Amino acid sequence: MALSWALAALSLLPLLDAQSPVCANLTAMPITKATLEQISGKWFYIASAFRKPDFNQSSRTIHSAFFYFAVNYTDDTILLTEYLTIGNRCIYNSSSYLKVQRKNGTMSKNESGTEVFAELLLTKDPKIFMLGFSLKDEQNKGLSFYADKPEVTEEQMRVFHEAIRCIGMQKSEISYTDAKKDLCEPLEKEHKEERPKEREGDTALG
Ligand SMILES: *[C@@H]1O[C@H](CO)[C@@H](O)[C@H](O)[C@H]1NC(C)=O
Ligand SMILES: *[C@@H]1O[C@H](CO)[C@@H](O)[C@H](O)[C@H]1NC(C)=O
Ligand SMILES: *[C@@H]1O[C@H](CO)[C@@H](O)[C@H](O)[C@H]1NC(C)=O
Ligand SMILES: *[C@@H]1O[C@H](CO)[C@@H](O)[C@H](O)[C@H]1NC(C)=O
Ligand SMILES: *[C@@H]1O[C@H](CO)[C@@H](O)[C@H](O)[C@H]1NC(C)=O
Ligand SMILES: *[C@@H]1O[C@H](CO)[C@@H](O)[C@H](O)[C@H]1NC(C)=O
Repeated sequence: MALSWALAALSLLPLLDAQSPVCANLTAMPITKATLEQISGKWFYIASAFRKPDFNQSSRTIHSAFFYFAVNYTDDTILLTEYLTIGNRCIYNSSSYLKVQRKNGTMSKNESGTEVFAELLLTKDPKIFMLGFSLKDEQNKGLSFYADKPEVTEEQMRVFHEAIRCIGMQKSEISYTDAKKDLCEPLEKEHKEERPKEREGDTALG
């Protein structure tokens, strides 16, 4: 008797979660110009949890990462400039694009020939965002977490942990990055120093 009650209570949990205000808010909303403005700029990859084996593996090789989103509002693409610290190397990539599907609030990236979709999940806090992957697929679902600073506040981390619970994953599935392991900062500094020169060049040409 006790056991069947416990099972019934457990089976209710996902329903209750889905109805909690935090979980109810964890849905992709149509992407607007304002949304794109909010997510453009520099972001740090803080943590993620992936069931999909290849995503799970590759996320665990990234020790630290930050990136820039540069939105093209004309064709709804985002130029992605990534600085990944993998092992003891900084890997710089400024040649990939995301496509924005405004209506269903998704972004997609062509990963070696396959279009991978992610739902853009925003919260009350504009300084963080999450991407949800295959959320209805138990075997492949995943959630990644980004912030405007390399370290997040306790409250921001709480929001991510709550979202992990909402999508029916465990905290133990999360893999965290460590900003102290970042090796890309010197390269970013170089790029920043190069940029003003480019602008001078533009002026000279104009
Ligand atoms: C849910 O989203 C609405 C609109 O953005 C916001 O006003 C509300 O505070 C959010 N609730 C929670 C629990 O995050
Ligand atoms: C993800 O990777 C970790 C470390 O390799 C492993 O322990 C875990 O079982 C993996 N999770 C899944 C769902 O494959
Ligand atoms: C934005 O997209 C349009 C249409 O594809 C293109 O003509 C334009 O050059 C792009 N702008 C930038 C800054 O890349
Ligand atoms: C950069 O990213 C693109 C698209 O994801 C990929 O095809 C390319 O191999 C990457 N380049 C490097 C140097 O990792
Ligand atoms: C979102 O819309 C795009 C383009 O219409 C479609 O290819 C994609 O499958 C949709 N994704 C989801 C999660 O609904
Ligand atoms: C993804 O990129 C490959 C080349 O890397 C290309 O052949 C393919 O058409 C692209 N797919 C989409 C959906 O853009």
